[in-house]
Amino acid sequence: MKIYLDTGNVQEIEEAAKLGILDGVTTNPTLIAKEGRDFKTVVKDIVKIMKKYCKNDFTVSAEVTDTSSSEKIIKRARELAKIDSHIMVKIPLIPVGIEAVSVLSKEKIKTNVTLCFSSNQALLAAKAGATVVSPFVGRVDDEGFDGIELISDIKTIFDNYNFKTEILAASIRSARDARDCSLVGCDIATIPYGVFSKMFYNPLTNIGLVKFEHDWDDYQKKLKNCN
Ligand code: G3P
Repeated sequence: MKIYLDTGNVQEIEEAAKLGILDGVTTNPTLIAKEGRDFKTVVKDIVKIMKKYCKNDFTVSAEVTDTSSSEKIIKRARELAKIDSHIMVKIPLIPVGIEAVSVLSKEKIKTNVTLCFSSNQALLAAKAGATVVSPFVGRVDDEGFDGIELISDIKTIFDNYNFKTEILAASIRSARDARDCSLVGCDIATIPYGVFSKMFYNPLTNIGLVKFEHDWDDYQKKLKNCN
């Protein structure tokens, strides 16, 4: 499973990217607003960090904000794509968004169709030629439905018709969500930094490491006393 970081914070991205296991970054208007900095500057800073640490291919998702017409979406998408070849343009899953994706996919502009909450919606995004579609697991769960089941259903549909569109699970709220996405074969999960950090943590790992270090120190002391 590819792992993306779901943030606009360059410090978080650097901390994760230097581990050598990050495959991309997703932003959205809320995450960019949190940074309080110029949108394009944030996106360019993110691309710069990813180029420094991620030798293999990566994408950085940047979202369009004027969705009043497909023409406006297309125009903005072309502008965002020009920032860097790694940019993937985030477009909401609404009719004018799908119309725009149908055009942009023919221009080989990478698209991330976002705000997906049903397998029907995901099917439409794939038919339009979306590069990835982003089902929001946490927000589906918030409404009392099953976000992981949605990922699994979309995977079945995409496998049935051999769609090339990848599934990018978003709105990941826990390390368990990340695990469950990988269990159902999701292509990508975009994970907030706090949740990403929790994926490393297990008390038994720390307890075991302390014991190894303690026993090694004891062993070294005994060897020194023998010589
Ligand atoms: O990129 C979409 C994601 O950031 C939404 O997450 O937790 O606001 O539902 P959340």
